[in-house]
Amino acid sequence: MTTNPAEILSDAIGAEQVLTGEALAARNPGYCEDSLGAQVLVRPRSTQDLVTICQTAADNKIALVPHGGLTGLVDATASHMGEVIVSFERMNRVLRIDPAQGIAVVEPGVTLEALTDALSKHDVICGVDIPSRGSCTLGGMVSTNAGGARVLRYGMIRQNVLGLEVVLANGQILDMTSPLLKNNAGYDLKQLFIGSEGTLGLVTKIVLRLWPAPKSLSCALVACDSFDHFSQLFERARHVLGARLMSFEAMWPDYYRLTTSQPGFGAPPLGADHGLYGVIEVSGADEESAQNALMSLMEPAFEAGLVADAIVAQSEAERATIWRAREDSDAIEHLHETYLSYDVGFELRDLGPFATALVDNFASRFPEITPYIFGHVGDGNLHVMYGLSHSEAANRDVYDALLYDTVSGFAGSTVSAEHGIGLEKRAYLDRSITPQMLDVMKSLKRTLDPDNILNPGKIFEL
Ligand code: LAC
Ligand code: ZN
Repeated sequence: MTTNPAEILSDAIGAEQVLTGEALAARNPGYCEDSLGAQVLVRPRSTQDLVTICQTAADNKIALVPHGGLTGLVDATASHMGEVIVSFERMNRVLRIDPAQGIAVVEPGVTLEALTDALSKHDVICGVDIPSRGSCTLGGMVSTNAGGARVLRYGMIRQNVLGLEVVLANGQILDMTSPLLKNNAGYDLKQLFIGSEGTLGLVTKIVLRLWPAPKSLSCALVACDSFDHFSQLFERARHVLGARLMSFEAMWPDYYRLTTSQPGFGAPPLGADHGLYGVIEVSGADEESAQNALMSLMEPAFEAGLVADAIVAQSEAERATIWRAREDSDAIEHLHETYLSYDVGFELRDLGPFATALVDNFASRFPEITPYIFGHVGDGNLHVMYGLSHSEAANRDVYDALLYDTVSGFAGSTVSAEHGIGLEKRAYLDRSITPQMLDVMKSLKRTLDPDNILNPGKIFEL
């Protein structure tokens, strides 16, 4: 009897579904350089294939590492020899779109962009939108509880999933695909699988809540003198715009200078010496009403001295330029051998003081390193990135500790607002949850996956 995972899986579901060797090594590992470490990848076509895969894995104690679009940022897709990667790329059908009820049913391998295209002819959208839209998959978005720049309007994926089908570690199918918006029949089990990074079950079908596509969007790039002014602007925006407020995003000056100085960007839309930059997007019934709504926020804020300078996009191209300034965090790759990235969360009042404390702490300990700070102010979620050489990155614990020590100085903060824990943040998870919470999480894991075969070691070690 063989103990080779590739042979075992090939015998169970057919060699054609299993990739190894050169064919696998030639693939793009995505943001996690250890994604392909298992050197065996299986590509199920159906829920039934996955049942076979899980039963086979359980019988042979083979660990399974699920892969979506490989745009995750916390090494939750890392795999090792002896494990088997499960790629959902062949389960990529949009099964149902019902614009009247506002639901779509999709397989996990559908990319966000493919879904958005399919929805566009029905004038509906998925509420969650993230910069990796071209590659990220709905399965990955569910397993990481993706957020993005419209959370303040539509919520995270957690608020946008009506139902799920999940295959458990023992191969049992858990059908939770009721599409009802209101459904209080017992525990809301599907929520357990959202954001659990593939450690409790493998998602095979997703029932999504859809939203009417905004008729028109108006977008402004604003510059403020201070975070205090920016947060006052946010309070006004919520009151003046209500549900028309789609996004309220921030860039600290070093990040703004980074993204707007990239080749091909053109002239930066606003001068580079302001205290803070924001991207504010507003929806309206037509172009004029979206623009008017935005101006009803901006003009009084300008007069009150909250906004130092601003530019309102006058075309789709200008809107894209403003969003490029906010979303092009990959620009850091052009300047540094490698980089670290974080996604921390705070109460609104702490966002500015955190950023100031972080910049000060780096300036005194590592003056050669520039922390780039940006993110979703409307959701209390900031990203921090900084570039390092490979030799500095080998010593990353020192930099992680400085960052998380600064985070922990603020009560109620989280080490992950958006990207999850994966392998990268395991050592810091206990700063954001209590020991009792960790105990409950571990007992859920043991109940649902007694042999620890689903993405083992991610989030925490048993
Ligand atoms: C963003 C990614 C890094 O918000 O989450 O740009
Ligand atoms: Zn983000």
